Amino acid sequence: MRKIFLILTLAVAGLFCNSQDLNNRLITPGEIWPDTDGNHINAHGGGILFHKGTYYWFGEARLLRTDKDRTNYGVGCYSSKDLVNWNNEGLALRVIDDTLSLLQPGCVIERPKVIYNRKTRKFVMWFHHELKGQGYRAALTGVASSDDITGPYKYLRSLRPNAGVWPVNFPEEFKNISVDEAALKGKPEDRVKAVKEGLYLRRDFEGGQMARDMTLFIGRDGKAYHIHSAEENMTLHFSELTDDYLDFTGRYYRVLPGESNEAPALFFARDRYYMFSSGTTGWRPNPARLSVAEKITGDWKTIGNPCRGTDEENRITFGSQSTFVISPRNKKNVYIFMGDRWTPQNLADSRHIWLPVEWEDAMPVIRWHEEWDIDKLKKVE
Ligand code: DGJ
Repeated sequence: MRKIFLILTLAVAGLFCNSQDLNNRLITPGEIWPDTDGNHINAHGGGILFHKGTYYWFGEARLLRTDKDRTNYGVGCYSSKDLVNWNNEGLALRVIDDTLSLLQPGCVIERPKVIYNRKTRKFVMWFHHELKGQGYRAALTGVASSDDITGPYKYLRSLRPNAGVWPVNFPEEFKNISVDEAALKGKPEDRVKAVKEGLYLRRDFEGGQMARDMTLFIGRDGKAYHIHSAEENMTLHFSELTDDYLDFTGRYYRVLPGESNEAPALFFARDRYYMFSSGTTGWRPNPARLSVAEKITGDWKTIGNPCRGTDEENRITFGSQSTFVISPRNKKNVYIFMGDRWTPQNLADSRHIWLPVEWEDAMPVIRWHEEWDIDKLKKVE
């Protein structure tokens, strides 16, 4: 009898341990974040789309390996009603088992983002795409679309955007300069000046501009923008997408030229556009930057480091790099910083750093919280 009681007790306890506590309202940045199956959420460099009462989290699904393989097998998708408890919806986009496909296993898919097009009723995914065996040289952006939010997304193509067109805000007098690149070696300030004046923009004019770290954002002007690190990661390009979101219109803006920003994550609050971004130190974290603009197309100004921690925490953005800013639907004027703490030797184990955006003298700032309650987020006043 005692034995049966013990077995029953263990079985019931086991049930509770394996399933998630759906009443959990706490976010614990930097810890393992189990989905409702108990597995760490494998969606990195991601973003969130709210659709019909549910949040969907899309991100890099990394191979569960501890060797140095940094390729991945697609884009993971998770769904949640409350931003805390997430169900695994499987892979929204998969690599294609065909050596003729650019999306073949061994390629790199990073920072995927999804937006919904009301006119075509399609979900459109864009992602940073690097080709198998070519490191980060290709600097392409890939696009895929689906009728269903969770996929499967159909891969359409990868490209370098804006071939043969100048940015709207690029001065006429810089279009024909010729610079001796060799003469810039060992002169970082001269190189930055040359980049600001379009060194790499001119180099990539014919073939299309580089597109590495990226995000998508729909501006107050109703246009969707593909925002990406271009010009050897030294300048951001804000590129307008066509009405169906599947292509570029050719209207694009250079933002913060020569200032080397990666990991752009935008939001709109208090009548301003804000952007978190990082410097360019690979997988290693560096100080975050906060930039602000009245219009999405600029002018953008960097106003400083938004972190409010110890000097060391500010120097490494609490051990993270921005990827997205979430605005929970039932909480108007509330924002969440979403970042990644990368583990380059096992990217699937990279941790999610979500922190509330707080306001200090009308500037959005982030502070470290060991754990915080999603229901206690404060509004922008
Ligand atoms: C920094 C980027 O933000 C990441 O997404 C990734 O591309 C790494 N660089 C690779 O070193």
